[in-house]
Amino acid sequence: MRRKLVAGNWKMHGNHRDNAELLSDIMAARPFGCEVSVCVPYPYLSEVAVGLAGSGLLWGAQDCSAHERGAYTGEVSAAMLAEFRCRYVIVGHSERRQYHAETDQGVADKAKAALACGITPIVCVGETLVQREAGQTEAVVKRQLSAVIHALGHCAGEMVVAYEPVWAIGTGRVATPDQAQSVHALLRAQLSAATPHAGDMKILYGGSMKPDNAASLMSQPDIDGGLIGGASLKAADFVAICRVAG
Ligand code: PGA
Repeated sequence: MRRKLVAGNWKMHGNHRDNAELLSDIMAARPFGCEVSVCVPYPYLSEVAVGLAGSGLLWGAQDCSAHERGAYTGEVSAAMLAEFRCRYVIVGHSERRQYHAETDQGVADKAKAALACGITPIVCVGETLVQREAGQTEAVVKRQLSAVIHALGHCAGEMVVAYEPVWAIGTGRVATPDQAQSVHALLRAQLSAATPHAGDMKILYGGSMKPDNAASLMSQPDIDGGLIGGASLKAADFVAICRVAG
């Protein structure tokens, strides 16, 4: 039985005061029956690491460099994230693929860099609305995942995958449980061909997951939790989703 994971993606939101309040509200709601993590902007990693140390809650970042070190102004290496004891790092989020022209290979390199530093990459895949309507969903997510599987080799079983249909992110338009499950099953089958650990791997759903739709999504056999954007900024909503997960 896979333990569910609920990971908050704060995106570019937050400030010292709001973060402290949000985290204290989440901590007050412990214990949770699922794994709970927050992926926060870099400048807040230090305070989040201090605030959550020993709490049972985990934390991470939203991106990392594919490079180990060097003249890469503005980038942050996985080794740096490891110093802040990040458990997770999101890689290949559609907003980064879209606004920063991240390629499948670039995302795969980042996932590899994260694992090399002991951080679990949460690898995002997902199709746009145009791709879905053109019947390309399967081909797109398979291509995105295949680059990462290839780069990670025998470590592929160590990543977390997040299926995030681009048309559902921040739009309030959520994938139906059947739509999500069918893509999750496809991804798990692809993982099964690559690693003996596919049955233990977490595949999260992301895209307008809220307290009122979390149960129907997370009751699907291949949906192992959520990557939560907007609802992760409201303690009550985030906690409610965690309760649904376990
Ligand atoms: P959303 O974002 O929950 O606000 O749709 C999810 C994500 O982008 O990870």
